[in-house]
Amino acid sequence: MAATPNLSELPQLLLPWYQQNHRELPWRTDRQPYHIWLSEIKLQQTRVEAVKGYYTRFLATLPDIPALAGCDDELLHKLWEGLGYYSRVRNLKKAAQVIMERYDSVFPTNHAQVLALPGIGAYTAGAICSIAFNQPTPAVDGNVLRVVSRLTDDPSPIDLPDTKRRVNRLLSGIYPAEAGDFTQALMELGATVCGPNRAPDCGNCPCKGLCVGFQRGTAENLPVKSPKRERRQEDRTVFILSCDGRFALEKRPDKGLLAGLWQFPNVPGKLDTRAALDAVTAMGLHPRELLREVEKTHIFTHIQWNMKGIYLEVAEAGGSFLWFTEEEINSQAALPTAFRQFWEK
Ligand code: ADE
Repeated sequence: MAATPNLSELPQLLLPWYQQNHRELPWRTDRQPYHIWLSEIKLQQTRVEAVKGYYTRFLATLPDIPALAGCDDELLHKLWEGLGYYSRVRNLKKAAQVIMERYDSVFPTNHAQVLALPGIGAYTAGAICSIAFNQPTPAVDGNVLRVVSRLTDDPSPIDLPDTKRRVNRLLSGIYPAEAGDFTQALMELGATVCGPNRAPDCGNCPCKGLCVGFQRGTAENLPVKSPKRERRQEDRTVFILSCDGRFALEKRPDKGLLAGLWQFPNVPGKLDTRAALDAVTAMGLHPRELLREVEKTHIFTHIQWNMKGIYLEVAEAGGSFLWFTEEEINSQAALPTAFRQFWEK
């Protein structure tokens, strides 16, 4: 049973700990809303260590909202390559355009206006308004849900919207004046001392005096998550077709999975070698030499692709494809990880 939560002392325990223990991260050097926004969108899907490089490179190329609003989609996809969830970066650009048109290029400070921007949900709006503008708006992500479920010994599954709403309400009531630091302190505790996929390091936790999960010995078994649904399994055959130092790519459709990104030609099913050569012939190409075959998998949120990659030299650079050099694939084409893994030597 969840304890009656009284977390009013949490800020005074957490804030000094944060001051002493937080990691120096590129997005913590200033509080510009554009910087906080960009980092939080990336951090929702990717580990801190991996985000650092992407974040720095993105800002070096697109240093402000006008640059983002006006940038070319190919460049945008390339800057996001490997991060997945490409609709997020397209929404980033859409939101930048809204900020240009509706807010005279200045990031809005009103929480409801921030929340209304494309691609910005409750978590991101809470993070931006608290970190950039010091407003008492919680940013409840997996880290924060884990911390609060342990602090309050709450076994409610953290993936349920209702649990999130309750945690949001609970935190809203205890926000201190140092709102930005408090948001980051909660995230930091959840990423380190009270981290995921291992026992919490309660001995080093500044909040253990307050933590019901620690006192009852339940913290290690929290948070609770609903059982996962099985991913749909799909087999595909992917063709890495080469001709005179060029490789065949095509654009994916504008809608659906990996919309608008580049891909190696591919077909459903895992074809045997004979059927694969026939499929290439049906694409209007003439197979010359089979170089190798490699098996790879790629996991999306709801689907798993089980892929067979076939490396094949063909006689002419034809078919309905664009033929890129190695350099062009590396520097220009945003090739999602599902396909890029066949490219990395
Ligand atoms: N995870 C989500 N947001 C974060 C932030 N601002 N710093 C570190 N880890 C995070």
